[in-house]
Amino acid sequence: MSVRAIRTVGDPVLRERAREVTPEELRSREVQRLIDDMVDTMRAAGGAGLAANQVGELLRIAVVEVDRNPRYPYKPPIPLTVIVNPVVEPVGDETFAINEGCLSVPDLRGAVDRHVGVRVRHLDRHGGAHDGVRRGLTAGTFQHEVDHLDGVLFLDRVRDPSTFTTWEQFERHHRDAFVARARALVERVGS
Ligand code: NI
Repeated sequence: MSVRAIRTVGDPVLRERAREVTPEELRSREVQRLIDDMVDTMRAAGGAGLAANQVGELLRIAVVEVDRNPRYPYKPPIPLTVIVNPVVEPVGDETFAINEGCLSVPDLRGAVDRHVGVRVRHLDRHGGAHDGVRRGLTAGTFQHEVDHLDGVLFLDRVRDPSTFTTWEQFERHHRDAFVARARALVERVGS
């Protein structure tokens, strides 16, 4: 297992659609090793998620984990989840403005409207099928990662450029108001 270099905005691999993984590929040593490396890379960088594009691989694989994350201390915990060939569909019409960041977009955050509820269907690393509903900030995390697999960055979805901030300015001027809104959302809809 090893930590891989994270590609940053401007690298064309972040703008390509990753392709579906076949069952044979998923069983291969190479892809299993890639998944291990993605987990290591996400944890080493303190991310809440990481998509394969971000380490230069165009396969529809992402990893998500939130466990007292110092970058996002307000996010509800998510146990380590490997999502392969995910399909995300909105549940209901409600959206919520989430202030997002991304390991591929250093030192920038911005507000993105995300669906409050999404149905997520995916395979796990062993090929097992999963189908469930994610809500609130957790739903946003899954939408962010699946966007990566379609070559989309959170930057593309920021409707109001005046919401862009550095991490330092977010902490200083915007964090408290956002966290209060986010906590209220999580209390209302769960995760
Ligand atoms: Ni990202």
